Amino acid sequence: MNYDWHVVFNLYLVVSLTFYFHFFVMCWIFWYTGSWDTVSVLLHGLQRLEYRWYDSAWLYVTWKDWSHLERAVGKVSELTSRFDQERDVSSYTCWIAHTRWATHGGVTESNTHPHTSNDWKRIIVHNGIIENYSKLKKELIAKWYTFSSETDTEVIANLLQEHATWSFVETVKEVQSRIRWAYAVLILHVDSPNEMVALRLWSPLLFAYNDTNEYFFSSDAQALAWYAKKLIYLEDGDLLHFHTTDAWKDYTIFHNGEVTKRDSETFDHEAMEASKWDFKHFMLKEIYEQPNVLSRVCKWRVSFEDFTLHADAFHGMHQEDYKKIVTVACGTSNYVWRLWTYWIQQLAKIEAQNEIASEYENKPFFVDPRKLHIFVSQSGETADTLSVLKMLQEQWGKSFGVVNVVWSSIARLTDSWFFARAGTEIGVASTKAFTSQSLCMLLLALFLWKRRGMRLSLYQKIMRELEHLPAYIETVLDQSDQIRWIAMQLMQYKDFFFLGRGYQVPIAYESSLKFKEITYLHSEAYPAGELKHWPLALIDENVPTIFILPHDEMYEANISSMQEIKARKWKICVIWDRSVEWSDRQISIPETCDELYPFLTVVAGQLLAYHLADLLENDIDKPRNLAKSVTVK
Ligand code: AGP
Repeated sequence: MNYDWHVVFNLYLVVSLTFYFHFFVMCWIFWYTGSWDTVSVLLHGLQRLEYRWYDSAWLYVTWKDWSHLERAVGKVSELTSRFDQERDVSSYTCWIAHTRWATHGGVTESNTHPHTSNDWKRIIVHNGIIENYSKLKKELIAKWYTFSSETDTEVIANLLQEHATWSFVETVKEVQSRIRWAYAVLILHVDSPNEMVALRLWSPLLFAYNDTNEYFFSSDAQALAWYAKKLIYLEDGDLLHFHTTDAWKDYTIFHNGEVTKRDSETFDHEAMEASKWDFKHFMLKEIYEQPNVLSRVCKWRVSFEDFTLHADAFHGMHQEDYKKIVTVACGTSNYVWRLWTYWIQQLAKIEAQNEIASEYENKPFFVDPRKLHIFVSQSGETADTLSVLKMLQEQWGKSFGVVNVVWSSIARLTDSWFFARAGTEIGVASTKAFTSQSLCMLLLALFLWKRRGMRLSLYQKIMRELEHLPAYIETVLDQSDQIRWIAMQLMQYKDFFFLGRGYQVPIAYESSLKFKEITYLHSEAYPAGELKHWPLALIDENVPTIFILPHDEMYEANISSMQEIKARKWKICVIWDRSVEWSDRQISIPETCDELYPFLTVVAGQLLAYHLADLLENDIDKPRNLAKSVTVK
């Protein structure tokens, strides 16, 4: 597909490499002005990243007399060979190369980036998702805009045309205020060849330069190691306007429309390796990220001013009145849906069935127009979960995903889905993904409950507490030293019990899973009501019990269970929201409502497992025999 424009990028070398990969997105937007050899820079970048997954590629080149956009579905090498044949590539002054892993829209040339506005004047390179793109696209179609692709990216290009003003930057600001969530965008305008505008919201994007007056954009600092000396990490909501003339180059950064300053950092190879900030392990960093993550989960989905849920954020849940919801997952994601069961049945009174993916795929499937299957997965690539989704699709069953990796297979294959927004989770032991996915499930339960007639007082109580949840979690995180002290006293034991009731049963299971996963010690988890049926036979002075008993409606029953254990003089540690004389040790948590206690007790369990594993000097971020994404059966 060729576009002929009479555009001259005299001093520009625009190389934008955007790579969407199978298990995560690496968008490498590499934009550069300088005197180096374009082709070697471009090919060096492509070769370095070629080993990643992608399914389509394109090259946009501009030189003295005209521009040329070449697209191909397949390997980048097919593209460069085309140019090799047609032109002497050394004459090019402007390159944009891009490979894409299909997300919105199939693997076709028409869906391959970049995308342009209907008037072919705006060129967009985009990494991320536009959550409200379907609504925006309908509005543009109503204004007679046409779309040559199924992508969300093309909506940005036509919005720029729709809202065009005398100023390129002001137009971009206007569009920035309309698009929602998760994007890094690079925008070229063929009539303003001396300008470039970059936007960042959630998807990483950084601006870089060196001392020989060369400037770059990239989403991956590592990719700039060979070129840049100074880095500026754009922040959520930033707009960077790069403008130049033959004589000078300059840039301005806007944040929420106002000019702002961002300090530059000196690129340090070693520092890039250990992006754990000042935490000892990725897992600990990710435990501490949870307050911010949960705030992000609620952004543009909840208004705490009037306790409303934004309907367009739940567009996948709009149409149906579900009679039954089946959730399918593995491992820790498995306990996300156990928690969901309590919420969806207690609140929305919808029958919920929970299935472990590896078991469910061997059972007969019952597909029904009023039955919804929800697939919960951090990686979005877990083979067992994916296999069930594909079986469901063969029978035209309805599916919804709660996924943390945006461009993953489960996110792409489900009919609709919720982005968990936890950010990249490096530690194999899932922590922030668990709480962010659980909060997504709670919001879905509240949304369905509201549509089916809810108890307003309880709804408002949950929403009030939800607004304070990040602060409550900070309070639990402040107990870290106390929890480490308790972990020190547990080092002498080899077996542990985790007990809870009601909403705390999934947390007992999840805390026990975290414990086993990184301490390699044996632990069991059971509903506390089971004690008399058999666990009591196993508990003795060598088996400490971690009893999770916040001051919820199960409190009285839990106290009597705890007294049974203490009557036998056994060790007990409680995760508790107020002091109690029976416990040998306790981790106190703030008071909140029953429905939100799980977010506090699970963080206490994460820290307990982390500190004990650290004291045992285990490889916490890469526990033995385990992988972050189980993509094989
Ligand atoms: C949890 O800490 C483990 N990493 C593991 O149980 C994980 O939850 C499970 O493999 C499911 O992975 P998913 O959420 O990516 O599908």
